[in-house]
Amino acid sequence: MLKGNIYLKGDKSISHRIVIFGSLANEKSKIYNLSNCSDVVHTIQILKDCGIKIKNDKDFLSVTGNTFTSKQKKFDCGNSGSTARFMLGLLPFKGLHGTLHGDDSLSKRPMLRVIEPLEKMGLKITNKTNNLPITFEPSIAKNIDYVLNKPSAQIKTAMILASLNNTKESFIKDNYNTRDHTERIIKYLLNDISYKKQTIKSFQYHVPGDISNAAFIIAAAILIKGSDIILKSVLYNSTRLGFIKVLCQMGADIKVLNKTEKQNEVVADINVKFSPNLRGVKIDKSIVVSMIDEIPIFAMVACFANGMTKVSGAQELRIKESDRINSVVENLKNCGADINEFKDGFTILGNKKLYYTNINNYNDHRIAMTFKILEIILKKRIIRTNQNLISTSFPEFYTILGDSYV
Ligand code: S3P
Repeated sequence: MLKGNIYLKGDKSISHRIVIFGSLANEKSKIYNLSNCSDVVHTIQILKDCGIKIKNDKDFLSVTGNTFTSKQKKFDCGNSGSTARFMLGLLPFKGLHGTLHGDDSLSKRPMLRVIEPLEKMGLKITNKTNNLPITFEPSIAKNIDYVLNKPSAQIKTAMILASLNNTKESFIKDNYNTRDHTERIIKYLLNDISYKKQTIKSFQYHVPGDISNAAFIIAAAILIKGSDIILKSVLYNSTRLGFIKVLCQMGADIKVLNKTEKQNEVVADINVKFSPNLRGVKIDKSIVVSMIDEIPIFAMVACFANGMTKVSGAQELRIKESDRINSVVENLKNCGADINEFKDGFTILGNKKLYYTNINNYNDHRIAMTFKILEIILKKRIIRTNQNLISTSFPEFYTILGDSYV
C-alpha cells in the first residue's frame, strides 16, 4: 500500500514558462522547486545557449535575463513539444536565427499549428514544414487579434510570448479553456493582463507540485488496498483538474485540503485513499482538455471500475509523444482489458481480470508510467525500468513510489 505525505517537484508546464519569464526579466530571478525533468532541462539549455545566465543554487535556480545573443545556430528541444513551440514564439522575436531540432518522436509532431498563427505575427522561417528541424530568422512581432482554432495551450503560449515584443496590445482568445499558466504568470509578474511589450522585473517564484505527475500516484493509491496518502502543495488550477473531478464522479475517495492561492495559482493538499468501488463514467471534450495528459493513466484506472467508461473528443491524443489513443488501447487490450478504440477516444468495459504482459511504451514517458503503475498493482512490487524515459517528465517517480510503498 502507499502511505504518508508526498512532496512533488514543480509542475512541468509552469516550470517551462517561469524559466522563460526569468529570461525576460531585467535582473536576477529566483525560482524554487523547479521541475528537474529532461523536458525542462532542454528549455533551460536553449536559454543558456542564447546567453541567458542560469545557475543552480542550493535550493533555487537563478535566472538573469534580458540579453538574448547567440553564436549557436542549432537548438535541441529533445522530446519536448512545449520547448519547440515556445521557442518558436520566443527566439525569432528576440532577433535570433537558428534551427530547432528534436528527437525522433518530436520530429514527427505537428508544427504548422504553431507556425501559421506565428507567421500572422511576423514569424520568418526558411523551411515551412510541419516537422522539426525548422529554421527561423530574426522576426519583428506584429500585434494580433486571434481566436485559437485548436485546443492547445502551447500554441497560445507561443503567441503570447511573441506578443510581448510589440508595444501594441495583442488579443488571443481561448474558447477551449486550455491551461492558463502563462496568463496567470503575466498577471502575477506585471499586475496587468495585457499582451504587449512591458518591463518584467526580477521575481521569486515557488513552483507548486506537478498535478500531472500526481495523477500517477493518485491512481496507484486508489487501486492499491490500504493506501492513504497526502500529496502536499500540489497545483490545483481549474484548467488541470479533469482527472481528479472525474475520479470523484466515479466514487474515488479523494479530499482536497488547505486550498490556498500562491503567486496567482491555486495550491492544495490532496488526500487519496484506496477506493474499491469505482463506477464507469462518460467524458467528452469539455473535460478532456483539463486532463489531456492524464488520459492514459485514467484509462488504466477505468479498467478497474464497474460498468462502461467512454472517452470521446480526445483526438489531440493522437499527436502527443505517441498516438496515445492507440498506445493505450493496444497495451490494455494485451493485458486483458475489454477496450475498443475509435477515432477520438475509446470505450472500456471495466472489471475484467487483467494480467501483466509485454508492454510497448512507444518511447512515450506517460505510457511507460501508466503501465508501470499497472505492473505495481498486479505484481505487488516495484521493478525499476525505463528510468531515462520516465525522467522526461517525472525523474523522481521511483523514489516517491519506493518511499511511500509499505
Ligand atoms: C502543455 C500543453 C498541452 C499538454 C502538454 C503541456 C503546456 O499540449 O499536452 O503536455 O504546458 O502548455 P498542447 O498544447 O499540445 O495541447
